[in-house]
Amino acid sequence: MRQAGRIVARVLAELRSMVAPGVTTEELDRAAESLIREMGGTPSFKGYMGYPATICASINEEIVHGIPGKRALQEGDIVSLDVGAIWEGWQADAAITVAVGSIPSQVQRLLEVTQKALEAGIAAARVGQRLGDISHAIEQVAHEAGLEVIREYGGHGIGRAMHEAPRIPNWGRPHQGLWLKAGMTFALEPMLTLGGYETKVLDDHWTVVTADGSLSAHYEHTIVVTRNGGKILTTLDENDEL
Ligand code: MF3
Ligand code: CO
Repeated sequence: MRQAGRIVARVLAELRSMVAPGVTTEELDRAAESLIREMGGTPSFKGYMGYPATICASINEEIVHGIPGKRALQEGDIVSLDVGAIWEGWQADAAITVAVGSIPSQVQRLLEVTQKALEAGIAAARVGQRLGDISHAIEQVAHEAGLEVIREYGGHGIGRAMHEAPRIPNWGRPHQGLWLKAGMTFALEPMLTLGGYETKVLDDHWTVVTADGSLSAHYEHTIVVTRNGGKILTTLDENDEL
């Protein structure tokens, strides 16, 4: 899973550097697929329940599962880029939200708070804590910042399959649910919005958007539970060059 995580991290770093006004999400998708295969991995999203692409690219009010296409990114957009790869049968899944050019400070804050919420969830993924402690830690960061958390979608167990039990909501009560044990592997993925948390799915049957059209941000890491909190698997090694 660590090697799958390196591949995913490498691809996200590359996609981040490609993001610019005029770039289409299809171009990002093609780059991601070639890079994953070059590194000896397999894209995990492609073909998953009929999903047609290697990445999800979710722009502005799109929360998750946006299908790449001919739409070009525009100055001021934010785009969630979600990548999954398989290495020798093991999965990793991660996402970042990237600003296209300059964005208003309120939107910058949405990105920062969502990232902080993910960090809080990772820190809470510690042996001796319970699943609800992760959920609650994420929700608390959002609410302290006056932001809402998407409720219908969340994180998940991950391993030989991309989606394994348990489901990990980004909200909930602390001290409840599964006891966390060393070596459990999770994909944590907070989705926060500047508006309300209601969602709908577009006619393409994949793209999830905020019902009120408000902007949404999404960050995800695959982690392993340790005594010191979650250790991130979807990261580069210190000496990895980009
Ligand atoms: N990170 C997303 C998730 O866990 C990616 C799944 S996209 C899919 O839901 F197309 F593969 F479903
Ligand atoms: Co995921």
